Amino acid sequence: MTKPPGLDRGLTNYGDRDFARFLRRSFARSMGVSRELLDRPVVGIAMTPSGFNNCHRLMPDLVEAVSRGVLAAGGLPRAFPTVSLGEVFLSPTSMVYRNLMAMDVEEMILAQPMDAVVLIGGCDKTVPAQLMGAASAGAPAIQLVTGPMSTGRHRGQRLGACTDCRAFWAKYRAGAVDADEIEEVEGRLAVTAGTCAVMGTASTMALIAEALGMSLPGSAAIPAVHADRLVAAEETGRAAVALIADPIPPERIITEKSVENALRVLMAVGGSTNAVIHLAAIAGRLGLRLPLARLNQISDETPTLVDLKPVGQGYMEDFHAAGGLGAALRELKPLLHLDSIDVTGRTLGERLAEPMNWVDRAFIRPFDEPIARVGGLIALNGTLAPDGAMFKRAAATPALFEHEGRAVVFDGLEDLARRIDDPDLDVTPDDVLVLKNAGPVAAGMPEAGYLPIPKKLAKAGVKDMLRVSDARMSGTAFGTIVLHAAPEAAIGGPLGAARSGDRVRLSVAKRRIDLLVEEEEIRRRLAEHRPPTAPARGYKALYAKSVTQAPEGCDFDFLMKR
Ligand code: FES
Repeated sequence: MTKPPGLDRGLTNYGDRDFARFLRRSFARSMGVSRELLDRPVVGIAMTPSGFNNCHRLMPDLVEAVSRGVLAAGGLPRAFPTVSLGEVFLSPTSMVYRNLMAMDVEEMILAQPMDAVVLIGGCDKTVPAQLMGAASAGAPAIQLVTGPMSTGRHRGQRLGACTDCRAFWAKYRAGAVDADEIEEVEGRLAVTAGTCAVMGTASTMALIAEALGMSLPGSAAIPAVHADRLVAAEETGRAAVALIADPIPPERIITEKSVENALRVLMAVGGSTNAVIHLAAIAGRLGLRLPLARLNQISDETPTLVDLKPVGQGYMEDFHAAGGLGAALRELKPLLHLDSIDVTGRTLGERLAEPMNWVDRAFIRPFDEPIARVGGLIALNGTLAPDGAMFKRAAATPALFEHEGRAVVFDGLEDLARRIDDPDLDVTPDDVLVLKNAGPVAAGMPEAGYLPIPKKLAKAGVKDMLRVSDARMSGTAFGTIVLHAAPEAAIGGPLGAARSGDRVRLSVAKRRIDLLVEEEEIRRRLAEHRPPTAPARGYKALYAKSVTQAPEGCDFDFLMKR
């Protein structure tokens, strides 16, 4: 093997190569690292600790464990910071900053002297951002996740962020839980370091990273506070050094086949709708597309096997103890592309040939005894979403799968906040709540698609209604909710033509979401559309100008591989 460049990679350009090398070594020695270590292959560790990211609280321990593995395998670990995105601490929404983080990751991998990189993320947008950046950078890379939180307890009930956050808040809004109790619950929902405890976006993306082959087998679901998480971190460090000796760039791991494997996993675990956007963005960095028709085909062929909230009963700690992704993959084996490889260079077939001695069937069902015969998500088309929309059928009310109702339309997020709980709002349980101007260009696509049930209906016991928007929804949420309508209203999509009083029809059987208004009238209304005023400067201006729609992953058009 030729010696990897290590610290000599990408020398700073002063017009004198030897001087640049001399200067870099000299400054590297100022960090107190011996000559012997400075000559080793370098593993960069993209770390994301932040006082605004609770999900990454144990980052220092993970960085130390990865470094231990790198050193033990003969490499030199060098940790470096990138943007960190703590889901609930960002305004207007973390989604706006995913692409910023992806650019940061890509550029810092390319600009700094590393032969391979370990990416440590966890919270919703961090793992997709790291995979997008690494895919574009092209250097050998391994994803390590911070791992899921463990559950808390409240009056004998297990609680986990954030499906239980939503369930308790809905009860509070309906008057079934008082102010004192909701304050108690506030301190019991997120009781350890780590990512949300259910099959939300972070958990789904952790499993997708492993299913793609970008994480070490068996590492995705280990709880954040479990000793095995540190062992996995140490092994990740060792594996990164091995990747330098035998480089496998991300484009050999993230392929059309492994993307399909990841989609199968997404369906089988009842994963988050957000994962479809993120997977499209990751694949898009390598010129791969995610046709919604193929997604529906995969969904119809893939059973839901994993019984976790928000769709089922368990939490990620149960999934890990039950056998984790390895157990689920073994059930899906007949549907998977077994010749896909992972970061260790092993094929999926080789991984799955190893027997598992025990699986807890309470949480991971056998292929022939699934929770549902089909996958959790489907794509819709129709006059409200000609380029597609997403629907999480696993988390919806079957009685509303074929539903027609009167639209109650909100023009944007402020209008929604102002009127949704107005006692005079003209709304009935059979109506369809429609939110427009919450898509990528208009609002950065916040998780506002989970429109609250109007308070007066919630108090009367209404638990679900059909809701339609161009926004996203948290992976921890549930309900009969049509999301990601594309093109969004702000760029002239037909959602913008919807008016209160129109009829809207959902047909899950036909995979359609339609505005029951004459085509001519829709065209007439859209002709009056005026685009929103775009931000004038900075990153927000770049975002509004360059962000793509949901089916292309909401990546920047200039970052996708065409
Ligand atoms: Fe970070 Fe839920 S807030 S994963």
